[in-house]
Amino acid sequence: MSVPTLTLNDGIKIPQLGLGVWKMEDAETPRIIRNALDAGYRHIDTAAAYGNEAGVGRGVADSDVAREDIFVTSKLWNDRQGYDETKRAFDETLDKLGFDYLDLYLIHWPMPARDKYVETWRAMIELRDAGRIRAIGVSNFLPDHLERLIEETGEAPAINQIELHPRFQQADQRAAHEKLGITTECWSPLGQGEALANPILTEIAARHGVSAAQVTLRWQIQLGLVTIPKSANHERMRENIDVFDFELSEHEMAQIKQIDTAAGRIGPNPATADF
Ligand code: A2P
Repeated sequence: MSVPTLTLNDGIKIPQLGLGVWKMEDAETPRIIRNALDAGYRHIDTAAAYGNEAGVGRGVADSDVAREDIFVTSKLWNDRQGYDETKRAFDETLDKLGFDYLDLYLIHWPMPARDKYVETWRAMIELRDAGRIRAIGVSNFLPDHLERLIEETGEAPAINQIELHPRFQQADQRAAHEKLGITTECWSPLGQGEALANPILTEIAARHGVSAAQVTLRWQIQLGLVTIPKSANHERMRENIDVFDFELSEHEMAQIKQIDTAAGRIGPNPATADF
């Protein structure tokens, strides 16, 4: 079964599951991308900060899959925020990818202490309106950052990509997105591999004859989220996309809800992060 798409608030369709390429070496990336495309992935999530946009672009160019059939996301790094700087950084990203348009461009972190994310957002709106980006969004934005963008520009992000995995489920943030018409995308959806030994997940996995990683990704799919598991390994990559022919029951969804914990965050807190 192929990966279903979700329709964003601007009408653009995104495959609900994609490949994250954080921590992949640029030189290794083209081969990994070709493997992913062979395995059926049509959505790749990179960022300027990952240092592998050129590798992603080469992987896409070398494959038999047409560019327009692949949904590619990249992100603006923190030191490039600001109206003019955003436009320059976007040109560099597109140049490294070797593309003439990008599917989704995100502001990587809000960096509230620097107070540049509104002017950054204005530049992204213009790039989108000029036809150079199909959809624009943000990452790691808290509800007050999102509300400010909407209040000052009249434009809600299509997506907010946030840390989200069984130990850190972000129910309040998801509810805020729903109210604002913003799609939630999960980064570190597998909790960077650490959540997978959880006995609730392994028990549900055994019942369905799948892995704990597959249960986790299926849980995100059934919540209506976009998810981008990272794997550099061919077999695990295939395993992660194979989550469309089993279904978790309401009881199992409720069991997974219990894994959430106040101490579950792995990454930085966006309210104070400044790097
Ligand atoms: P690898 O690249 O060797 O497969 P996240 O997407 O939450 O950041 O998690 C990525 C981490 O989880 C990576 O270390 C990755 O390692 C590992 N991983 C990815 N898929 C699986 C899987 N199906 N089972 C176990 N570990 C996985």
